[in-house]
Parts: sequence; C-alpha cells; structure tokens
Amino acid sequence: MADRLLTATARQEDEVVEATLRPRRLDDFVGQNKIKENLGIFIDAAMGRGEPIDHVLLYGPPGLGKTTLANIIAAEMGVNIRTTSGPAVEHPGELASILTRLGPGDILFIDEIHRLQRIVEESLYPAMEDFVWDIIVGKGPAAQSLRLSLQRFTVIGATTRMAMLSSPLRDRFGATYRLDYYDEAALVHIVARSAGILGVEIEDAASHQIARRSRGTPRVANRLLKRVRDYAQVRANGFVTEQVAGEALARLEVDELGLDEVDRNVLLAVIDKFNGGPVGIDTIAAATSEDADTIMDVYEPFLIQLGFLARTPRGRVATPRAYQHLGRTPPPTASGGPQEHLF
Ligand SMILES: Nc1ncnc2c1ncn2[C@@H]1O[C@H](COP(=O)(O)OP(=O)(O)OP(=O)(O)O)[C@@H](O)[C@H]1O
Ligand SMILES: [Mg+2]
Repeated sequence: MADRLLTATARQEDEVVEATLRPRRLDDFVGQNKIKENLGIFIDAAMGRGEPIDHVLLYGPPGLGKTTLANIIAAEMGVNIRTTSGPAVEHPGELASILTRLGPGDILFIDEIHRLQRIVEESLYPAMEDFVWDIIVGKGPAAQSLRLSLQRFTVIGATTRMAMLSSPLRDRFGATYRLDYYDEAALVHIVARSAGILGVEIEDAASHQIARRSRGTPRVANRLLKRVRDYAQVRANGFVTEQVAGEALARLEVDELGLDEVDRNVLLAVIDKFNGGPVGIDTIAAATSEDADTIMDVYEPFLIQLGFLARTPRGRVATPRAYQHLGRTPPPTASGGPQEHLF
C-alpha cells in the first residue's frame, strides 16, 4: 500500500516535471528536423491565408513528442487547444458537446485516437470534413435530421498504433507525421536543455551517457536525468560527472543500450522459454506478467529497432544479436540459416 502511494506520488511528480520540461515553441523542439521543417511550412502557409490548419495526425512510439507537438502547433497558431482522448469520449453526444464549444480555428487534440469507439469515430467524419453535426430528432418514420454547423476547427490526432486506425479516419487527415526515435546528438541536446531548466550541473560526458541509454526517447532521457540527479544530490554534492551518471544508471539496471529489466525479461522469455520463437505477443505477455499492449507499445518497437526482435507472420523471433547481447548461444538453426552469416 505504502509502495503504491509512493509510486502514485512519484508519478504525479514526474508529470509536473514533464510539463516544465516540455518545449513550448517549434524552435525549442529538439531533433525531428524534417517534421519541424514541414510543420513550420504547413503552419506558416495556413497563417498566411488566415485559415486554420488542416487536420494533423501524429504517430510513433510513446514519449517521442506527440503531445508536445500538438501543444506547440496551438501555440504557433495562437489558438486554444482542447485535449481529450479516444477512451475518454464515451458516446457521440460527448463529442458533440466538445465540438460545439470550440471557437474558430481552435484545436481539438485527441490522444490515443485509435481507441475511439466506432460510433464516436463515425460521428467525427462529417465534423472533420464539412464542419457540421447531424442530430436526429425523434424516432422511427417521424425522425428528422437537424444539421448544426460548427466553427472551422482542427483535429490533431495522436496514436502509437497507426495500424489500428481505420482507413476512413486516416484519410481525413491532411497531414500525417511519423515521429522516429531520436539520435544521440538530439538526446544529448535534450538532456542538456532539461538539466538547464532543472538547475542540474552536468558534465558533457554524463549527458552523452544518459543520451545513449535513453532508447531514443526524450521522455526516457528526462526520466534518467532526474534519477541521476537524485543520486548525485545524495552521493556527489549534486554535480553529475560521467562516473556519477554511470553509477546511478547501473543502479537503475539500465544497460549500455538502454535496455531495462522488462526488455531483458521479454527477450529471455522468447529465448529460454520458447526456443527463440516464433511466439505470439499474448504468450510473451503471459510468460513475463506484463501487459500485452505495453509490450507492443513500449518495448517491442525499440527491440525491433535494435534488431533484437523480429516480427514474423507466426510470431516474434529473437535474433542472433539478442542472444549475443544476453550472453546466450544461439541455436544453430535459428532463423533457418547457418549462424556465421547472421552475425
Ligand atoms: N523534441 C523534443 N525536444 C525536447 N523535449 C522533448 C521533445 N519531445 C519530447 N520531449 C520531452 O519528452 C516528454 C514526452 O513527450 P510527449 O509527452 O510529447 O510524448 P508523446 O509522444 O505524447 O508520448 P505518449 O505516446 O506517451 O503520449 C515531454 O514532456 C518533453 O519534455
Ligand atoms: Mg502524449
């Protein structure tokens, strides 16, 4: 119980810090240069015409900046942003009440848009396309349809699961941006920026070290920075040297590639319990006591990016690189070929 309370408090604190570290304007947004440039043009063009921007869809793994970008777009356009999420809108009436309150040019940010209920999603189509809302009054043959007109607004949708979006919904977005994992240079920049905001003194080499272990993800970089800061405060007068960062990260059991205990458990389950796969995601979830959605959203994409896990039609397969990283000997016929060619 105490543990759970602590976690809740820690989570709340994390959210507060996350909000302070969130870049407010496009210029403060580090990395993702192609997206930044394209989005900048998109925004300038709309502003030049004095129109709201077209609907925008942002997708990619968690913690890469989708919510941040949605808020930046609103700030750059100088409009209000109303935030909701797919599971929060339970029926079309709730959506109607949100939409009818939007001012001209306002942004409706729908997080986890892939989790919108079908009936809500379908009621969003005419709103996005023609800025109208149809209401059916009465029942049976006497029912009448009333058409309400809405202000011209912009939907920004965010999703970690592009594949779960229906194609009619996908087609209604005028621009789609895919956020990718950040490179080390960008993450070093983010760590240094966040350290500046938090007032943490940190050596360059320490920022690099944190960046390298952040699995390409700004949220993780910030989280590691905060834990390293705590450690430095207690053990090293607050100054984060390379050595202090190394010690702190070792305690967190984050390895040199950024893999944590869950990553290792997932890989080891595939390797040790299922002979390297192929094995289905639900089986992996059951074997590791993790949630299948969390594995799919958070862990799997990074393990695939590292080339440790491969997705096949029959399930997930651990690659020889994963065996190597975990100090296991790959079976001679893993992935169906002689090992020499795979290393
Ligand atoms: N490009 C960036 N530059 C600096 N900081 C960033 C950048 N992108 C994200 N961050 C930081 O990472 C944190 C997480 O970003 P954000 O909440 O936007 O991710 P998200 O993609 O919406 O994740 P989720 O899918 O979990 O909702 C933010 O609080 C912000 O501080
Ligand atoms: Mg988000």
